Amino acid sequence: NGSVGSMGLSTLASVRPNFKLSAADVGGFVSDPAEELVAPSEAFRQRALVASRAQYDEMYKRSVEDPDGFWGDIASTFFWKKKWPTTEGKLYSENIDVRTGRVAVEWFKGGQTNICYNALDRHVEAGFGDKVAFFWEGNDTGVDATLTYKEVLERVCQLANYLRSQGVKKGDAVAIYMPMLAELPIAMLACARIGAVHSVVFAGFSAESLSQRILDCKPNIILTSSAVKRAAKVIKLKDIVDDALKTAAENGHSVGLCLTYDNNSALKREDTAWQEGRDVWWQDVVPSHSKECEVEWVDAEDTLFLLYTSGSTGKPKGVLHTTGGYMVYAATTFKYAFNYHEDDVYWCTADCGWITGHSYLTYGPLLNGASMVVFEGVPNYPDAGRCWEIVDKYNVTIFYTAPTAIRSLMRSGDEPVKRHSRKSLRVLGSVGEPINPSAWKWYYEVVGDKRCPIVDTWWQTETGGFMITPLPGAWCLKPGSATLPFFGIQPAVVDENGHAQTGECSGYLCIKAAWPGMMRTLQGDHDRYETTYFAPFKGYYFSGDGCRRDKDGFYWLTGRVDDVINVSGHRIGTAEVESALVSHPQCAEAAVVGFDHEVKGQGIFAFVTLLEFVEYSDELRTALVNAVRSQIGAFAAPDVIHWAPGLPKTRSGKIMRRILRKIASNQLDELGDISTLADTSVVDQLISLRGK
Ligand code: WT7
Repeated sequence: NGSVGSMGLSTLASVRPNFKLSAADVGGFVSDPAEELVAPSEAFRQRALVASRAQYDEMYKRSVEDPDGFWGDIASTFFWKKKWPTTEGKLYSENIDVRTGRVAVEWFKGGQTNICYNALDRHVEAGFGDKVAFFWEGNDTGVDATLTYKEVLERVCQLANYLRSQGVKKGDAVAIYMPMLAELPIAMLACARIGAVHSVVFAGFSAESLSQRILDCKPNIILTSSAVKRAAKVIKLKDIVDDALKTAAENGHSVGLCLTYDNNSALKREDTAWQEGRDVWWQDVVPSHSKECEVEWVDAEDTLFLLYTSGSTGKPKGVLHTTGGYMVYAATTFKYAFNYHEDDVYWCTADCGWITGHSYLTYGPLLNGASMVVFEGVPNYPDAGRCWEIVDKYNVTIFYTAPTAIRSLMRSGDEPVKRHSRKSLRVLGSVGEPINPSAWKWYYEVVGDKRCPIVDTWWQTETGGFMITPLPGAWCLKPGSATLPFFGIQPAVVDENGHAQTGECSGYLCIKAAWPGMMRTLQGDHDRYETTYFAPFKGYYFSGDGCRRDKDGFYWLTGRVDDVINVSGHRIGTAEVESALVSHPQCAEAAVVGFDHEVKGQGIFAFVTLLEFVEYSDELRTALVNAVRSQIGAFAAPDVIHWAPGLPKTRSGKIMRRILRKIASNQLDELGDISTLADTSVVDQLISLRGK
């Protein structure tokens, strides 16, 4: 079976770093010699799935010139109950140009498959049932569990049977609000097995946010856990769910069943709030179900999941992914970007509540038959050495995390890293925001001992999988660049007028043609899908990111160009934070911008205008921050509340965020032209209130 990989490869011998190479060594580079190029070692290259730039170029060329052949060959290595029909050799159809009709993308339509079957049954049937799927590592040291592929399959089947017994059918939405127990990916897979649509909500979102998502996708059942211990703190998840269900019911949607996993190490059963008739303990009902469960075969274009993400305006968007294209894309990107081999042990520190946890903690690795660590805790608990302790404990070979975690660990110095061996590590990944060159180098030199390529993966909830990423072993890296597009991805750097530029340039990052893993619509709002992603630059998918392309054709992501802030890799819409702030009865108006933050990447800076006669106070400041915590979640809490008697507005009443961004980052000599403001004195007023 092609995607399970080949057996019996020897583990990597120690490899010598080769930090600076001449341009001739690396093939195709026209870089100036002063630029840092980090070359793959010879040993790494020998085990690389794509071992040279030439090999990539050839594969890439085929992927864009003959997508049907390229993706068809890969898709054929998966199990299809019914193969996709081809009309004149085509296995996909697309219109991403709003000028030529509705945006519509389909891959493998008419083919029937099941992603859970491909992720689990296929490997068990191929004789890999005893291979470890999950090394589960608890929040507290010494608390762990191991689950083989066969065991995961059995648990998935039991839960799937239970869900079916409760009337969950193909196409029904199931909400999941769970901590990082192995039961979280198991719950996702159980939904997929019976064709239900999972909608995972990160268990750090507030009750208000959860209820909003429930009201949008209207599940009849929610899966949760009594509580979770995160670092030293117990969080009562069930209380949050109870609040959310109450709010949802008041607003017209009642969830009839709340299946609750008893996480008794965090909270005792008898201390968990309970509503008889609606709430059911997972352990009381699921284990009695059969360990076999018939698969629901679904169309490649049937919905697999919804995942809500923030936009620059309005309420969160329910990004909708379908089955076939997503499956093929998540698995293929995982395999090539991490240079996956069967003897790897993979660890992604993300939570299943985000897209990374869907594509690269659940589906991508399992589709490849990988063994992986599922970690309940946080990188710096009980201390800054926890990650490397876990790496050594499980002999992790591929480690995937976010720049914010790297920067925060970097602040604790090298000792907590060096006290652990880390000799198993082979590939280090990064995701969520641009990784600054200094964090890149620390990751490379200290964590990876100059031995492991840094795979900086640029992608989005909407793209389903990696878009721009190194293929380690195939070409040199430059610290801070996500390098080159993945197979089938045609980036375009577009200027204000929508023209794709050539050569070295900067502009708006767009994509020229459909790819298998892209979202198909926004739940219940296809118009918003078109206006947000396809209308801004006609003929392209617009990412919302800015980027630069250098003379080697490498891409350097420069961050969002819309009103979205990236805090510790979490995407937060300024509009959402503003609406949470103005929900406070004493807040008249709010304007939120991002500012550079040493650890989080971006911090949240909120300018707040109070109602007349309300006095500034520290209590009020705390109350405003708490309003955001309870409306969105703790991770969206503003770092700074800046009192603003007035906001800089144009004569037509539009807030000039450009000016606010400069004030927030203290670049007061770069305010630019303020003459178009209705009242220029507000700027001086704001400046005088800095730090007050
Ligand atoms: C936004 C997408 C993709 C999973 C995690 C976040 C930023 C993500 C990178 C990277 C520069 C990055 C972009 C993007 N981003 N990865 N490697 N380099 N920027 O998913 O919540 O959908 O956020 O995260 O700004 O648009 P998301």
